[in-house]
Amino acid sequence: MKILAVESSCDETSVSVIENGRNVLSNVISSQIDTHKKYGGVVPEIASRQHVEAINSVLEEALTEANINREEIDLVVATRGPGLIGALLVGLSAAKAFAYAIDRPFVGVNHIYGHVCANYISNSNLEPPFIGLIVSGGHTYLIKVKDYVDFELVGRTRDDAAGEAFDKIARAMGIGYPGGPIIDKLASKGKDVLDFPRVMLEEGSYDFSFSGLKTAVINYLHNKEQKGEEVIKEDVAASFQKAVTDVLVEKAVRLAKKENMDKIVLAGGVAANEGLRFELESRGSKENIKIYYPEKILCTDNAAMIASAGYYLYKSGAVDKDTRANPNLGL
Ligand code: KG4
Ligand code: ZN
Repeated sequence: MKILAVESSCDETSVSVIENGRNVLSNVISSQIDTHKKYGGVVPEIASRQHVEAINSVLEEALTEANINREEIDLVVATRGPGLIGALLVGLSAAKAFAYAIDRPFVGVNHIYGHVCANYISNSNLEPPFIGLIVSGGHTYLIKVKDYVDFELVGRTRDDAAGEAFDKIARAMGIGYPGGPIIDKLASKGKDVLDFPRVMLEEGSYDFSFSGLKTAVINYLHNKEQKGEEVIKEDVAASFQKAVTDVLVEKAVRLAKKENMDKIVLAGGVAANEGLRFELESRGSKENIKIYYPEKILCTDNAAMIASAGYYLYKSGAVDKDTRANPNLGL
């Protein structure tokens, strides 16, 4: 079965063709990062307009790269939420129109669930059940994945998402946008010598909170500036990253042990983080838990992961069930 997927929830216009949920034939990603960079974050209205400008050519390119014509597509899917409403509507409408034109079934996909499915593409042997740790710019979730489309939400952030904390700290340090990859690189040259808080919340909770850590780092930067003292950005990055990572790793491993699971699957933009991958793998090897994450290009937003999710949803009978855009769609 050949699936064509469209993703447009934020600032990437992406179209992918994959086969049977795991085999990527094309995955074209047109990023708007350079446009939004100068504003220090994504501007929703500009994002919608750029999706409109890009969508048709990205779709054509995805078909050409997959070396197939439109009649060979069996299923069309698209992200229906969560995300920016204007941005979502562009991709969703284009995908529905395409499905209608070629007379094929359509499935609406939850973007967060899509991030998890990126792992099925990068890890051909991966199968549920497992513990999922989804860490992106907008979301931080710990889930128990029982089957391909059956999962249970166990923990979530009560304030900032993990990636959002990276982006806000980078902004405070004046080092660019998006902050995650920049901090990741800086951290590899720094030392974890600053004592930033690890917020574990109440006993037994699998929720997260990163706003206290963010405030602590920003206060540290202001203090240094007021005193006219030098800030070693590499050390701030390394210490901040380690504080985020310690909490994520601890809670994911705790949940895996409680649920007797021997697999933890990382997903979302922050899954590209070298420090997080390293810490989770070293802890995992001590606890006999195998760690999975997607290849870097599939960690951040892309349509291949949406195609994989759409395939499994289709097999579970989700065709044409709820195809409306929902900017606040939860897991
Ligand atoms: O999954 P994604 O593309 O978008 C959402 O669905 O939110 O994630 C983007 C987020 C941004 O906050 C970005 O700073 C973060 O992922 N990110 C990283 C890294 N690469 C991207 N965070 C930490 N380390 C990285 N290497
Ligand atoms: Zn995403």
